[in-house]
Order: sequence, then structure tokens, then C-alpha cells
Amino acid sequence: MDGEVVLLTGASEGIGRALAKQLSAKGARLMLVARNQARLDTLIAELPGEAVAFALDLTELDRLSELIAATLAHYGRLDRLILNAGITMWSRVEDLTDLSVLERVMRVNYLATAHLAHAALPALKQSRGHYAVVSSLTGLTGVPTRSGYCASKHAVMGFFDALRIELRGTGVDVTLLCPDFVVTQTHKRAMGADGQALGETPMQESKIMTADACAAQMIKAIEKRQRLWLGSARGRLGRWLKLLAPGLIDALAARAIERRR
Ligand SMILES: NC(=O)c1ccc[n+]([C@@H]2O[C@H](COP(=O)([O-])OP(=O)(O)OC[C@H]3O[C@@H](n4cnc5c(N)ncnc54)[C@H](OP(=O)(O)O)[C@@H]3O)[C@@H](O)[C@H]2O)c1
Repeated sequence: MDGEVVLLTGASEGIGRALAKQLSAKGARLMLVARNQARLDTLIAELPGEAVAFALDLTELDRLSELIAATLAHYGRLDRLILNAGITMWSRVEDLTDLSVLERVMRVNYLATAHLAHAALPALKQSRGHYAVVSSLTGLTGVPTRSGYCASKHAVMGFFDALRIELRGTGVDVTLLCPDFVVTQTHKRAMGADGQALGETPMQESKIMTADACAAQMIKAIEKRQRLWLGSARGRLGRWLKLLAPGLIDALAARAIERRR
């Protein structure tokens, strides 16, 4: 990572903020993206290494190429694109009263991610660089109350599995990162049935992984350009069990939501 230029989205909070701190400590030169400029500025003040903030709402799809242009203008190259920004929802399908939730989740988690990946392609081909994409275990299996979120993460997985094949022989790799539950702002910010933020976390936060621990494990996978990283033992086991006993995986997913961990 030392000296590498890394563009990281969703850097103002949670997993992204933890990634920024650990990447900076490893010597990466960072372009940090989120909407909240003040949060990015306080983060940069804490970082040991070089970093620049670019405040942007990633759903402004026609502005995403500005992020790549700004990175190249400042650093002259791009080595890794870490696509981490994301939002979530928390509602059973039958309870949804604001169906725009489905579109909003898809726009941030899938469309913005895919558009930014497209904009970064020439620069990453030039550097034989790397996409690291923060998906979720919900990108691999359905989880109740998270239908729109699951759909967006399945879309991300499909997009990058296809792109990985298109990039064979170019030296550009794709890593898909699938955390289990992590303590971050995302659960408080999750959109409920009416499209409004829940305001408080439904999770048992003392029982789930910290953002720092998640970031440390992700960075190991990113450094190795690993194809896929699964963030928990139940995630790794579930991948195999889904083929052999899919009903059991459904029951485990339902239980995880009931137990909030
Ligand atoms: N926490 C978990 O349990 C968990 C589990 C599996 C996967 N994940 C995934 O991990 C990633 C990071 O999530 P997190 O848990 O760290 O959430 P978080 O604490 O809510 O942070 C989300 C980040 O995304 C940014 N963001 C959201 N919407 C944006 C937009 N329209 N434009 C630009 N930036 C935007 C936020 O910044 P601003 O608000 O400043 O824009 C923030 O920096 C997401 O992709 C999430 O789906 C999380």
C-alpha cells in the first residue's frame, strides 16, 4: 500500500472511516469521498499520511468522472478504487409505504458504484490497478427486512463478477468484500417502511464486529487482491450450506434478524 493512490468512497463514517485510517497508516495516498465535507475534514486532520477530500453525492451520476479527474490531477495516477459507500433499509416488503426506498438503495449501492467503476476503468488499466468493492453477505443470500438492500448487493456482485472476467489479461483485479453485521452508523440511518431514518440501531451492537476489526480484515484481503472475502464463519459456512440445504440458510438468515446479530 505504501505510496499507492487509493480513491475511497464512504470515507466519512463507519467502515470507510476505519479503512481510511488504516490505509493512511500503511502509507497510502488517499482521495476520500462522501457528502459530509466537515466529517471528511476532521478525518483528514487525524490521518498520518497525505489525503484529499472530495465532497460529492454519489447519486449525481454525471459528476462521478470528476472524482477520477481530481485524483489524476492531484496524484497523477490511481492504483485502487475502494467502492464502499452504501445505505440500507429495514422493513418487511408488505409493510413498505414508501416504495422509493427500493430505488434510493439501488441508486447509491448499485448504480453509483457501477458508474464510478466505469469512469475509473482507463486509469486502473493504466496502473494495472484494483477494484475493491464492499458488498455484503446479503449480496449472496436473501435476508428478511432487507429486500431492497439484498437486491442492490446482488446487483453489485453480478456486475463485478462480470467485469472481472472482462478484465482478464489486463492486470486489473476485482475483490468483492462481504461483511457480516458491523457496528457503524448504517443501522441508525437505515430507511424504515416510510422511507425515514430509523434513528436508533435495531442491532445488538455489543455482539457484532467493530468497524476497525472489519477494516483490518478487509485490508488483508485487498492487499492480496483476493477474489472474495467473507466476513464471518457463518458467512463462509453458509456459502456451502446454501447449495446443500437452502432452507437451513433461510432459517439462519431469519434468526440473525430476529436476534439482531
Ligand atoms: N455495517 C454493516 O453491518 C454492514 C454490513 C455489510 C456491508 N456493509 C456495507 O459496508 C459499506 C459501508 O457501510 P457502513 O456500515 O460503514 O455505513 P455508514 O457508517 O452509514 O457509512 C456509509 C458511508 O457512505 C457514505 N454515503 C452514503 N450515501 C452516500 C451518497 N449518496 N454519496 C456519497 N457518499 C455516501 C456516507 O457518507 P455521507 O453520509 O457523508 O455521504 C458514509 O461515509 C456499505 O456499502 C454497506 O452496505 C455494512
